[in-house]
This record gives sequence, structure tokens and C-alpha cells, in this order.
Amino acid sequence: MNIINKIISNFINNKSLYIGEKVTISEHMIQSAMIAENAKSTSNLICSCLLHDYGHFILEDPDELVKKKIDGKHEDIGYEYLKKFFKKEVVEPIKYHVSAKRYLARDKKYFNSLSEASKISLKLQGGVFNTKESKEFEKKDFFKNSIKLRKFDEVAKRTNIKMKSIIEYKDLLNFQLL
Ligand SMILES: [Fe+2]
Repeated sequence: MNIINKIISNFINNKSLYIGEKVTISEHMIQSAMIAENAKSTSNLICSCLLHDYGHFILEDPDELVKKKIDGKHEDIGYEYLKKFFKKEVVEPIKYHVSAKRYLARDKKYFNSLSEASKISLKLQGGVFNTKESKEFEKKDFFKNSIKLRKFDEVAKRTNIKMKSIIEYKDLLNFQLL
């Protein structure tokens, strides 16, 4: 099976809920992409959004890991796998979307807006960035898109909207292949 068909079948077959939320991981990623589209983002960024939690499909049982207070490093797992097939512009923001949360959480208002599940995972992911870590992160090539991805990610948890199907993203995915 080629990679695009494999991704599509994973989206269709995976019914696990996104940790602590009422939407599935598939729905959550599709919603992130829809929000990025509405914000007139580039195709690269829309594709990053669509695949940003793909690591959760690869990890055995993300929910179980959280219960055991283990960070599965889903951003690295997704990145390592997807970089074999997709452009750098697509996979780098995926790698850094957790760093973006650690960066943004320095702001009290942002921190307080996080869901309980997200606050717990933030701790497991290493907590809020200090000044040195923040400065390092700002220097990354895809810093801005990592932040954007994270902001779209944050709000992509609605249950009352008309969802697109993963099939509608087939061309976009194909276009972002190496
Ligand atoms: Fe996410």
C-alpha cells in the first residue's frame, strides 16, 4: 500500500478519542487542517496540521501512557516516520508543536486556557520553557509555523461542526510528498 493510502486508511479506521476530549484523533487532526484552511494558511501548514498527531496512531495506547504518567513523545515518533515521505516544511512544525506549547505556556493567560488533559501532558512533556529554551526555540527555521500549528491544534476539539473527510485531503497530501 502506498503511504497516502496507508494514512487515509489509518484516519478512517482509528476510532480512539483524543486524550481527554470528545473528538477522535482523526477528527481532531482534520479539524486542525480545516481551521488552517480557514485562516488561509499555506498548503504546507495545512498538511502539517492534518498530520500533526500522527504519532498517536503509531504509539500503542496514548491514553494508557498518560495514565501511567509517561510521555510517549508522539511528536518525535510522528516526525521520524513522516519525514521519510513528506517535505521538511510539513514535518518540522510537527516535530516542534509540543515545544510551541511549552513556549506559549510561559504566558499565564495561555496556560490557564489549556484543558486539564493538556496541563497534565505539559508537565510530562517537560513543562514550561525557561528563557534560554525559549530563545533557542525562536531561532528554529519553522518556529512561526510551529506556533501557528499549535494555536490551530488548541481549538480543534469541537463536536458540533460539519467535518470534512480525509479523502478530501488526498490531493493535498500527494502534493506534499518528497
Ligand atoms: Fe493535536
